[in-house]
Amino acid sequence: PAIAVIVPAAGIGKRMQAERPKQYLVLHNKTILEHSLARLQQVPTLSKIWLALAEDDPYFADINFDQSQIVTTKGGTERMHSVLNALQQIEPYKYPWVLVHDAARPVVRQADIELLIERCITTGDGGVLACRVRDTMKRGELTVAHTVSREHLWHALTPQLFPTALLKAALEDAIQAGVYVTDEASAMEWAGHPVLLVEGHSDNIKITQPTDLALAAFYLEQLI
Ligand code: C5P
Repeated sequence: PAIAVIVPAAGIGKRMQAERPKQYLVLHNKTILEHSLARLQQVPTLSKIWLALAEDDPYFADINFDQSQIVTTKGGTERMHSVLNALQQIEPYKYPWVLVHDAARPVVRQADIELLIERCITTGDGGVLACRVRDTMKRGELTVAHTVSREHLWHALTPQLFPTALLKAALEDAIQAGVYVTDEASAMEWAGHPVLLVEGHSDNIKITQPTDLALAAFYLEQLI
């Protein structure tokens, strides 16, 4: 089945404290956004990408790469709005599945994307790339309220892949109900749909803080 791709890239990246949004910072001569798009475009089954950009984005126009398979859409106030705006442009009968990948994750491996696609399409359920938590986990603020067993804890990464019509309905209903979600899987879980955990790699980091840049540059060298 055909898979549409959505790349939310409309965030301002406040925690990065950089002069421009993190997806436009440069690693190895390319913006983080270009790395992320190139990783997705390596997968033969992913042909068309809907890219959500901030309305006043002054950076995208300066990027020089093949945009023939890219449709730009309007970003929203939160990530969930950016993804839903893009989903409004995608016909579920033409693209029964939709894969969402953060612009800020330039180190995702082709094999992991393919594993996610294979698992979801063979089971018919949506799923997320995830990796197991390795530290001891504490809940609390100034002091520990309690230690959370890490046995069944995972970091949710992207990409995340879902049946298009179900994800659209889940995000619409979540927004309508005033539920705030930080990834697409949360909206699907909230709507009562199963979400598969597909084990990926912990180097698939989301660039968030200044120290993540050097790390991502190193990881990219290992992959190239
Ligand atoms: O801020 P955070 O790291 O969670 O953002 C994850 C992804 O969502 C980033 O690629 C960011 O550009 C995107 N985003 C968006 N629209 C927003 C906020 C974030 O497309 N309103």
